[in-house]
Amino acid sequence: MRRSAFVVVAHRLPVDDSVAPDGACEWRRSPGGLVSALHPILRQSPATWVGWAGQTGPARHVPDLDGVHMHSVPLSTEDIAEHYEGFANATLWPLYHDAVEQPVYHRRWWEAYQRINQRYAEAAADLAEPGATVWVQDYHLQLVPGILRELRPDLTIGFFMHVPFPPPELFMQLPRRAELLRGMLGADLIGFQRAQAAHNFAQLAVKVLGLQASDRRIAIGDRIVRVGAFPVSIDTADMASLAASRGVVDRARQLRADLGEPKHVILSVDRMDYTKGIEQRLKAYSELLDSGQVKVRDTVMVQVAVPSRERVEQYKALRERVEREVGRINGEYGRVGEPAIHYLNQPFDRAELAALYRVADIMAVTPLRDGMNLVAKEYVASRVDDTGALVLSEFAGAAAEFTQAYLCNPHDLDGLKAVLMHATRAAPDDVEERMRAMRAHLRAHDIRAWARAYLTALDRTGVLATRLTQA
Ligand code: ADP
Ligand code: F6P
Repeated sequence: MRRSAFVVVAHRLPVDDSVAPDGACEWRRSPGGLVSALHPILRQSPATWVGWAGQTGPARHVPDLDGVHMHSVPLSTEDIAEHYEGFANATLWPLYHDAVEQPVYHRRWWEAYQRINQRYAEAAADLAEPGATVWVQDYHLQLVPGILRELRPDLTIGFFMHVPFPPPELFMQLPRRAELLRGMLGADLIGFQRAQAAHNFAQLAVKVLGLQASDRRIAIGDRIVRVGAFPVSIDTADMASLAASRGVVDRARQLRADLGEPKHVILSVDRMDYTKGIEQRLKAYSELLDSGQVKVRDTVMVQVAVPSRERVEQYKALRERVEREVGRINGEYGRVGEPAIHYLNQPFDRAELAALYRVADIMAVTPLRDGMNLVAKEYVASRVDDTGALVLSEFAGAAAEFTQAYLCNPHDLDGLKAVLMHATRAAPDDVEERMRAMRAHLRAHDIRAWARAYLTALDRTGVLATRLTQA
């Protein structure tokens, strides 16, 4: 078995398989926030990624991706149903996103969560060379740091939570709250998107486990676990150069023509998820059409909603509601050849997404709660001529950085409508000034800066951080 000095452990491998034109199986880099975030770092350093290859049954061989060794963890249909769709996405996900949908608790899901975390931890323990650094990602694997610490005390262990971490009054609902906290505390450094999340975690360590804790350090046994905020980002330069490329510029021009050369294009790009505020946004838009503040001839809305977690009940129900509402709005306000909303529930490649971002005069990113929201960052990076208005929910992690966005509370429909209209009618100078400031921030705080900050804090010698982030 090949051992690495740097191992990433995440629920998924950063690949999807698809069928090539000649019928052969082909592995492609998959969409999703975590994958987009880590890919540019890993391809610069020999590393191993431990994760699921996306199909049930025995472990599949996945070829190395850009020099990163892929180690696939086998998951059965039952594992997926109980760990991924169950405990991760029907218990933790809604609870961590302000319980905007009711979290579901089942004892057998907890059994599965423990079993699968054990499996990932054992794989990482086998693949890490002596003294290696292992970086565990996200809410699917909160027990892995604790199990790994038992199996391999020689390792440096990091944990990063990509999603929000809730306030104590919500987290306290969890039947197995103490075990989840103890699992994370197996790490040397626990990273969150926002300082508030680190604060919530430290409070819980005191309240549930009776530990000594500040927002930066928690004492457990003879160890100190460090805690902090490390807002994740994107490969800003790469996104900007893609958006500025001839092909994307031409494609954006074509898209605008296909949309009927409207005065304003409003775009949203989300996974089909109840945390993204899609229904509230559609309602706001429908009311704007109804009041005549928005006219179909002048303004076009494009809603990309890529299917996600489709076997989880709340996601199925959401998709039905969204599609019914889009149908209703188009039926009521559209005209022949001029729908009020262009609804696309397909995955797109990065160039097509970049062309959509370039065509969007207004980007509406209005989640009810979001750890970060990389779509907001991708939009800002794509606006290479400093045009474009970002309407951004206060409840997205990105709002802590993009204070110049047109900020909104997506629960407040009248407020959301007012902000959408404000952004649509804003003076070009105002739009440009805001966008320039956000782009400057994003250039300085890109994915490499995130990795450097986290890994420097994790690995005090700095060797790993330097090797990984020198492009
Ligand atoms: P989340 O992590 O909840 O999915 P983010 O906004 O942080 O939300 O990340 C979403 C990622 O998925 C972005 O990198 C975005 O470009 C990508 N993405 C979103 N929609 C699509 C789509 N239709 N096709 C391909 N990639 C998509
Ligand atoms: O950001 C949270 C997250 O679960 C990421 O780990 C993942 O890339 C994204 O949402 C998409 O979710 P899923 O892997 O369930 O499709």
